[in-house]
Amino acid sequence: MFWLLSLLSSLLLGGSYGVIKPRVFIVNFFQAEAAHWHNIPEFNLLARNISVPGISPLYPDVHCTYDGSICQLITGQAEINSASTMSSLLNSPRFDLTSTYFLLAGIAGISPKHATVGGVTFARYAVQGGTTGPGQYPEWIVGTEVFEVNDALRQVAVNLAKTAKLTDTDACKRLRATYTSPIYAAGAAPPSIVMCDTLTSDTFWTGALLADGFENTTLLLTHQNGVYCSTQQEDNAVLNALLRGALSNLVDFSRIIVMRAGSDFDRPPEGGSAAENLFALNVGFPPALLNLRIAGVKIVQGIVDGWAATFKRGIEPTNDIGDIFGSLGGKRELNLLPDLFGRRVGRG
Ligand SMILES: *[C@@H]1O[C@H](CO)[C@@H](O)[C@H](O)[C@H]1NC(C)=O
Ligand SMILES: *[C@@H]1O[C@H](CO)[C@@H](O)[C@H](O)[C@H]1NC(C)=O
Repeated sequence: MFWLLSLLSSLLLGGSYGVIKPRVFIVNFFQAEAAHWHNIPEFNLLARNISVPGISPLYPDVHCTYDGSICQLITGQAEINSASTMSSLLNSPRFDLTSTYFLLAGIAGISPKHATVGGVTFARYAVQGGTTGPGQYPEWIVGTEVFEVNDALRQVAVNLAKTAKLTDTDACKRLRATYTSPIYAAGAAPPSIVMCDTLTSDTFWTGALLADGFENTTLLLTHQNGVYCSTQQEDNAVLNALLRGALSNLVDFSRIIVMRAGSDFDRPPEGGSAAENLFALNVGFPPALLNLRIAGVKIVQGIVDGWAATFKRGIEPTNDIGDIFGSLGGKRELNLLPDLFGRRVGRG
């Protein structure tokens, strides 16, 4: 009798023998980012642990709520780990991710031109830095240079995140107060929710000159539409895995939210040295981790609670989504493809 009940309940709840069909999947990149989502009153991600072959051996379990509606994993840091982990997850028979919303949730270096330490940003474009010089279009196009996500969904996520009350610290306030230049007004302001774009590179960098160069690269690769504001090591890798997943009908690429919270400024205050900025105490780290979750919980709850009314059906994108090749079709309003003519495209 008991076995029958437990079998029934596990089938009904999408239990350990069933396929789990999450509404939201939180994607973190290292342990501290994930830990801030545990032991919170809103939901319990540690109710079920599902080990998935091929994901990071440092973080071998996917964590889910008991009903499987919300799940979380840690990819491991940088591009190689995150692409490998996501590919393994997407191909796992334990999950049906066809209607799942992916919430990429990590900390990042932050541009004081657009946001601040402890602030939470939402990207439409993720750009991979990697040209031979500033202002140069990449010689070879390999397909991972730019990803564009659903801008209408981004707006919905931002509105949900704005209902959160972000935390702040005195140490962050003191750091911000050193950014006195008018061009860094956003860096000097209290933490808030900001819409701006993200840059992926495997190498940690800092300094005004590099930041300026990456701002230019972002503009160049997005036809002057992208606004660089955060620097991190994973998003293009995760998005590439999700793009391939979408091409294989495993995921819906219109259900991706790219969230990054500022843990440190990407450059010193005007007149400051890049080396000092690089070795400065990382005072933005604790509030960035906290605010990532504080803002993110609102988005997760919004999606889960609004499932029947809105999110099951999905938020129709009004922009072209996907990669620089236009693999997912669309009218390519950005005309990214013509840029490929005359270039050596690294495919085939
Ligand atoms: C899941 O794993 C975490 C440690 O990562 C542990 O704290 C928790 O108790 C585990 N949950 C279950 C249901 O075993
Ligand atoms: C970025 O572009 C601006 C405007 O074209 C230019 O003045 C600046 O030198 C560029 N920065 C770098 C690092 O190339």
